[in-house]
Amino acid sequence: MPPTHLVVLAAGKGTRMRSMRPKVLHTAAGLPLIEHVLRAGDALNPSTTVVVVGYQAVEVQEALGKRLGLRFASQEPQLGTGHALLQAEPLLSGKRGTLVLLSGDVPLLRPQTLVELVRRHADARAALSVLTAEVDRPDGYGRIVRNQGSIAAIVEHKDATDDERRIGEINSGIYAFDLAPLFDGLRQIGSGNAQGEFYLPDLVRIYRSRGMTVETVLLRDPREILGVNSRKELVEVAMVLKSTKNDELMAAGVTIADPATAFIGPDVVVGADTVIQPGVYLEGRTRIGSGCQIHSGVRIVNSVIGNGVVINNFCVITDSSVDNGARIGPFAHIRPQCEVGVDAHVGNFVELKKTRIGRGSKANHLSYLGDATIGERVNVGAGTITCNYDGTAKHPTVIEDGAFIGSDTQLVAPVRVGRGAYVAAGSSITEDVPPEALAISRGRQVNKEGWVSKKKSRA
Ligand code: UD1
Ligand code: CA
Repeated sequence: MPPTHLVVLAAGKGTRMRSMRPKVLHTAAGLPLIEHVLRAGDALNPSTTVVVVGYQAVEVQEALGKRLGLRFASQEPQLGTGHALLQAEPLLSGKRGTLVLLSGDVPLLRPQTLVELVRRHADARAALSVLTAEVDRPDGYGRIVRNQGSIAAIVEHKDATDDERRIGEINSGIYAFDLAPLFDGLRQIGSGNAQGEFYLPDLVRIYRSRGMTVETVLLRDPREILGVNSRKELVEVAMVLKSTKNDELMAAGVTIADPATAFIGPDVVVGADTVIQPGVYLEGRTRIGSGCQIHSGVRIVNSVIGNGVVINNFCVITDSSVDNGARIGPFAHIRPQCEVGVDAHVGNFVELKKTRIGRGSKANHLSYLGDATIGERVNVGAGTITCNYDGTAKHPTVIEDGAFIGSDTQLVAPVRVGRGAYVAAGSSITEDVPPEALAISRGRQVNKEGWVSKKKSRA
């Protein structure tokens, strides 16, 4: 097979989005539209990948900065799709093989479809192959005009006659080209049309007039080439991505109580026998083990959850890990860089930040634990606060195995509570507590007998 090269068009503004951001950076299922497109393109194992940028080029380039081996061509001003592809020429000069063109705003395309397009293109030895679809509402799309069965031209909706507008077969905007004649062909395209643009699809007419082979590949599921031009279409596409992911997970043994309200990103992994209640968001690179219960209103981002974990309602967990058998929430906030150990409990209204909680330890009620290292079998009483911030810097708190922290304790960091030590309720701990010691730091209680009746008799 000759090498494959990929070009993705992403220079347009996306006027109908009515947005400050370029269209291809709007997200569906947690990923920018163009990232979905590039992932589909990965299936072709392209030897060159070029993204044509224009409107807010810097933002688009920065958003794709983590992808290795991408090259960028700039199109300024944006004079149409034919003009856009021509901008990639310097990055492809001297190369041969097949060029596959994708639009940055068509995120549902399946990798298998592209593989099939390239295979059919090669089999036909075509100069150009167009991916087409039969749709019920072809409005807005370019129509495939045939002559005795063969494709003769693509006519844009705005340029089409009434007869042509009745054609249900549309241009997906996805093509495979033989590189050799491509750029000379593109230079023949004019802009004498309804939009005054250089239309890439005009290449079909030009090639046909030269007797070159132009193929079409008809898509089975036309939803795959749904393009995003408006907010409404963005949501439609996101809904398709969502239900595809939910269906996959359910087939793999996950119960999703209400798939309409479960938003699970494409890279999320969930083990069998985990039950996901309504209104749950699982995002980024989150991995959830098996046999977990994830209750309503939970949001988990880039986190690793073990097996048999219960996450009660309305918890937010970000960039953290929760080990097997732990119980979280309801209403817990686990901020980045936390590790909750095996069988540990983090209860209601507990906030953790950069904190490690060891096996079997409990912080069940109303606590803030930040920059803390908490050992095993520790009991953190209700209302315990690590005072980790002195207004300038953050300081660590260490609580060793088996320690007992009484309710309403303030641990003024840096501070250490030794193994097995007790801290009496209501203490402000400013100095280290030795192992096995009792620390108590609070005003001694005074009871004034008969105080109330004396006060009343004075009045
Ligand atoms: C295009 C096709 C149409 C097809 C439809 C499928 C043309 C003229 N028409 O129409 O036949 O049915 O896609 O979705 O190609 N872009 C640039 N530079 C430009 C213009 C566009 O990079 O100067 C990019 C856009 O950012 C977008 C893509 O090309 O990613 C398609 O452009 P768009 O304006 O959305 O074309 P459509 O009108 O949808
Ligand atoms: Ca479009």
